[in-house]
Amino acid sequence: MQYPIYRPRRTRRTETLRRMVRETRLSVDNLIYPLFVVHGKGIKKEIGAMPGVYQMSVDEIVKECGEVADLGIPAVILFGIPDVKDEMASEAHDPHGSVQLAVGAIKGVLPDLVVITDVCLCEYTSHGHCGIVQDGDVLNDPTLELLARTALSHAHAGADIVAPSDMMDGRIAAIRDMLDEEGFDQVIVLSYAVKYASAFYGPFREAVGSTPLFGDRKAYQMDPPNAVEALREAALDIEEGADIIMVKPALPYLDIIARLRDRFDMPLAAYNVSGEYSMVKAGARLDWIDGERVMMESLISIRRAGANMILTYFAKEAARLLG
Ligand code: PBG
Repeated sequence: MQYPIYRPRRTRRTETLRRMVRETRLSVDNLIYPLFVVHGKGIKKEIGAMPGVYQMSVDEIVKECGEVADLGIPAVILFGIPDVKDEMASEAHDPHGSVQLAVGAIKGVLPDLVVITDVCLCEYTSHGHCGIVQDGDVLNDPTLELLARTALSHAHAGADIVAPSDMMDGRIAAIRDMLDEEGFDQVIVLSYAVKYASAFYGPFREAVGSTPLFGDRKAYQMDPPNAVEALREAALDIEEGADIIMVKPALPYLDIIARLRDRFDMPLAAYNVSGEYSMVKAGARLDWIDGERVMMESLISIRRAGANMILTYFAKEAARLLG
């Protein structure tokens, strides 16, 4: 197959032809929409660096979920913002925490919408780290019990999927054990198996106020130059009982998504994180890029790399275009 006999341009000539040879599809079925829950009533406060994304009280979240479901988006992931943060992340597993209340309210009205909860302590700790801190260190094993209790409280509230994002060793097993012991063997564990210590989380930390007061997350989140280690992390989580594995962030780590797709026959998710969203929004606002096209190209590239599911703040906008 060589030029001039073979001419690859032939099958690109018209949109109909391009549609026929297209290899990857993006569907609304692939999208998961992240939401930030606060206490109170009637609250809808936009996040500075994330135009179109809000902190919302439970009543507003329920309205928003109605819109999400109407657009055909199958799932949301909830992040909680507590009234009080403390050393032990007490609200993380409080049955009256913002996330627990939101899950109950959403499932009461929209039982078919899949509700995922982010399981982590950083939104709830006064120091902003993802675990219990002693002498400046984030302790691994004592944190596991708290994470498992947090996941259990989400399951009690009615969550379909719990998604641990803390990167402590052994947390998938700890959570799976606790859920099974308490009769929640049908609750799915979506593991943030490969989560990098990334600068792309900046706007999210503003959204939930979880910027660490001291240090950084490099002693528990992964080092960006590492890829082989990502395979080990994923294998461990699958062995411990993860039902779905995730790579995060998405765009700077498409190679990792592709390698996990090749290696593991598991459902694979990717998190198109806050910084990835903010950059597109900022570029579009400055008229430096076509925001809509960059969004769709980004999302299809994450699918092409091999992700089945994409957690993205673009979910509603993309769903409208895919409509
Ligand atoms: C909590 C968590 C983070 C994100 C999801 N879960 C932040 C972090 O690890 O600092 C980031 C999401 C985003 O940037 O959109 N551990």
